[in-house]
Amino acid sequence: MRALHVPAAGEKPQIGVVPVPAVASGEVLIRVRAAALNPIDGAIAAGVLAGMLPHSYPVVLGRDAAGIVEAAGPGVTHVVPGDEVFGHIPLTPPIQAGTLAEYVVLPAATVVVKPAGLTFTQAAALPLAAAAASQAVDAIGARAGQTVLVNGASGGVGSFAVQLLAARGATVIATGADVARLTALGATLVVDRAAGPVADQVLAAHPSGVDALINLFGRTDEDVPLAALRPSAPIATLAQAPAPGAGRPIHKIMATPLREITAPLALQAAAGTLTVDVVTVIPLDQATDALTTITTGHARGKTVVTFP
Ligand SMILES: NC(=O)c1ccc[n+]([C@@H]2O[C@H](COP(=O)([O-])OP(=O)(O)OC[C@H]3O[C@@H](n4cnc5c(N)ncnc54)[C@H](OP(=O)(O)O)[C@@H]3O)[C@@H](O)[C@H]2O)c1
Repeated sequence: MRALHVPAAGEKPQIGVVPVPAVASGEVLIRVRAAALNPIDGAIAAGVLAGMLPHSYPVVLGRDAAGIVEAAGPGVTHVVPGDEVFGHIPLTPPIQAGTLAEYVVLPAATVVVKPAGLTFTQAAALPLAAAAASQAVDAIGARAGQTVLVNGASGGVGSFAVQLLAARGATVIATGADVARLTALGATLVVDRAAGPVADQVLAAHPSGVDALINLFGRTDEDVPLAALRPSAPIATLAQAPAPGAGRPIHKIMATPLREITAPLALQAAAGTLTVDVVTVIPLDQATDALTTITTGHARGKTVVTFP
C-alpha cells in the first residue's frame, strides 16, 4: 500500500510502498478515506521521539483517520466490515503504524462509527485535536462568566477549544491573525501578536486579567502570556508548561482520543453545533509539503489528506 513513511532511522519521510498491516485481537483494519495531520507527525518525522520511545521501521506517519472497516480482530464487537468509522493511533510503543496510508490498523478502543452527518474528511480531523481541546476545557473548569485566553488559537486544537469554551458561555480571547475565522468560531476578542505583546493587548481590554489560559504554543516561558492572567488563574497547557506560580494550578494535558471522548464530539459536529474547521484538503502526494507547513507552527485549522 502507498504510505507517507520514514523508511529507516534518520531518513526523510517519503511516499512509497509498505506492507498492509495485519489486524490482531482488539484491533480494526480500515481502508483509509481521509487522514489528518497533527504537529506530532512532524516531530516523529524529524526523529524527535526516537530517543524517548522505541521505533519500528518503516514508521508510517499520521495518528488520525476515517475510513471503511475491512476487518475486525478477535474481541471487537462494536464494528463490522463495511462500517464507516474514524479513530486514532495513540503513542504507544513501538512507534510504527500510521494513518497516512491506504490501510491502517486502529485500536478498537479509539474506533467510533462515523455519524452519517459527518464526512470522512471531517471525521478524520476530529480525534486528537478535538479530544485535546475538550480535555483542556474540562481541566480549567471552563464555565459561563469566565474570560479565557487561548494562546495559539488558529491551529487544529485552538479551533475546537474556542468553540467549546464559547459553548460553555465563557468569553473567549484568541490569539491569531485570522480574525474573521476565529470570531466566527466564537472568540469575542482576537489578539494578533504582530500588533504587540499579547499580554498588553489582553490587559488593555481586561485590566484585571483573564480567569484561565489554554496554552497551545510555547517553547519557553516567555512564549506564554502569563502577565495577562489573574494571580490564581488555572492553566491547561499542551505546549510549554510555565513554571508554577503561587496558587496557580497548571494542568499538563495528554490527550486520550478514546471513543468515549470522541464519540460525543462527533455527534456535536454532525448536529452542526461544533464546526470541524478543515482549512486544507490535499491528496497523499502533497502530504510531505503539508507536513513541512505544520512543522513551522503556523497552521490554520486542520489539514486533511484524502484517499480516492
Ligand atoms: N499533549 C497532547 O496530547 C497534544 C495533543 C494535540 C496537540 N498538542 C500540541 O498542542 C499544540 C497545538 O496543537 P495544534 O494541533 O493546534 O497545532 P497547530 O495546528 O500547528 O497550531 C499551532 C498554532 O500556534 C500558533 N502560533 C505559532 N507561533 C505562535 C506564538 N509565538 N504564539 C502563539 N501562538 C503561536 C499558530 O498560529 P499563528 O502563528 O497564526 O498564531 C498555529 O495556529 C502543539 O504544540 C501540539 O504539539 C499536544
